[in-house]
Amino acid sequence: MCGIIGYIGDKQAQSILLNCLRRLEYRGYDSCGIAVAANAIEVYKDEVRVEALGKASPQFDGTVGIGHTRWATHGEPSQANAHPHLDCTGNIAVVHNGVISNFQALKQQLTSEGHNFVSETDTEVIPHLIEKYYDGNLEKAVEAALRDVEGSYAIIVLMKGESKLITARKDSPLIIGVGDRESFIASDVPAILDYTDRVIYLEDGDIGVVTQGNIKIRRDDKEVAWAEDKILWSVEEAQKAGYEHFMLKEIHEQPKVIRNTLGEYTRDTEPVIDLAGMRDTGIASMLMLAAGTSYNAALIGKYIMEELLRIPVRVEIASEFNYYSYIPARTVAIAITQSGETADTLKAMKRLKEVRGRVIAITNVVGSTATRLANQTVYTRAGPEISVAATKTFVAQLMVLYWLAMAYSKADARRLAALLMELRQLPSKVQQVLDNEAEIMEQAKYLAKYENVFFIGRGINYPVALEGALKLKEISYIHAEGLAGGEIKHHTLAVLSHKTPVIALLARDNTYEAMLTNIKEIKARGAPVIVVAEEGDGAIEELVDSVITLPRVDTLFSPVVNVVALQLLAYYTARERGCSIDFPRNLAKSVTVE
Ligand code: AGP
Repeated sequence: MCGIIGYIGDKQAQSILLNCLRRLEYRGYDSCGIAVAANAIEVYKDEVRVEALGKASPQFDGTVGIGHTRWATHGEPSQANAHPHLDCTGNIAVVHNGVISNFQALKQQLTSEGHNFVSETDTEVIPHLIEKYYDGNLEKAVEAALRDVEGSYAIIVLMKGESKLITARKDSPLIIGVGDRESFIASDVPAILDYTDRVIYLEDGDIGVVTQGNIKIRRDDKEVAWAEDKILWSVEEAQKAGYEHFMLKEIHEQPKVIRNTLGEYTRDTEPVIDLAGMRDTGIASMLMLAAGTSYNAALIGKYIMEELLRIPVRVEIASEFNYYSYIPARTVAIAITQSGETADTLKAMKRLKEVRGRVIAITNVVGSTATRLANQTVYTRAGPEISVAATKTFVAQLMVLYWLAMAYSKADARRLAALLMELRQLPSKVQQVLDNEAEIMEQAKYLAKYENVFFIGRGINYPVALEGALKLKEISYIHAEGLAGGEIKHHTLAVLSHKTPVIALLARDNTYEAMLTNIKEIKARGAPVIVVAEEGDGAIEELVDSVITLPRVDTLFSPVVNVVALQLLAYYTARERGCSIDFPRNLAKSVTVE
């Protein structure tokens, strides 16, 4: 979704802004723009990629500026709707991430007062409000303007003749990067990684005044002391490192990610944190909330938790949970969100807090909004994930769930010791899947010709079928559906034919026989079947069209090896179809609107 950047320092702003915007591209966008304070406020924006914007824009001479990547919500992608937006005088420029919910009323009021609007965006009311309240003090005018707006925002304001940037946040992420004789303001960390590893995470309600050598932050009308954090991600981690796409690089990073996330939490025999006070009191049930791929991780988490903790676990799609009329008080919940900024998940967390719920966040982004709402945070150590398709963060989420479940497990010591041993072997098992890439690439070439693909699984591999379908649909634009194996006879057999390949996840557990029956039912309707099975299952080859063979693991860990194979399958299918793999159309990395 929208990304914002601001620069103030001793260097020319334009090329720095464009470089930072390039680093924000992964968030998903349809247009972009920059404004630099030269003799006047110079703006260049269009419905183009950042690279094209850089080539086409005139050279602006100035050391203060702002930039934006826009993901359209109010008004189509167009030059007029692209940010920055200006006031009537053209002296005040604003970039904004978020949604101003009362913009219609404000626009009407401002129009009646003589303000002229040129875009359909909600954002444009902000520079006009600042203009209205400006009487020589920009900071005060921004504060007054923000008192009028409702909704969510992270904004940066630039004004002609002012050698400062004003920034503010409410319900949208915002950071200040601290450099030597220069400062950056951005919606997220990858934007500034090339320039600094020193960061300040702003809180909701903060207003920052950033000059070349000074940063002032006000909260509740008082200046507050700010503290710098060190960014743990490196520039290299946010680059492709010779891979054709970020997604492929991130899939290949998974053995390391598993090691890192496990290393973080299994150093000691004791759990590093006490999950919701569970060690002393125990809990009777648990809720998990998430969206998209993180929701699929939560569904797998249900199987893991129920097997090892022996408590009922309910999993809800965050956006649906937000409309339930009844939420039991004091619910213990785990909210899973790699970005920590998904609006649906954040809203669900807030609802839980209202009924004195206790929320543990599992996230990959330090300082993200989820970490501020949560009672406790458990970080995945996946490093920056740039591709819109979540891969390594999904596997890292599973690692945290395994670790949490094992830390509090009621299973006997021998089973736990065996599981821990398997867990430690997972990186090499995943590496074996990656080494088998060529075989999966062949299957992808075959799959790429189809327009409808089904995935089936049972038990702990049912959510993996959902994830396989999600990933294929997201990046290859093939219509794909994930199903519980037992459901197909209730509806989907009606649409199966030689035009609808089915990918079946066959685990060597108590679901095996039932899955074989499903596979036979599908074959009888003429649909091609590709089975994902562990090595040594020779019998299955007779029955199906092809087999993707994976290393043997305990069923509890089979989602990890299976999902890596399905990620590769989705990747190579999308590549075969020539899709924009890292930035699928209409999608964004952080979905910060409802
Ligand atoms: C996954 O590949 C998708 N890009 C998407 O479904 C994503 O998982 C979803 O938007 C949730 O994001 P979050 O984990 O940052 O909350």
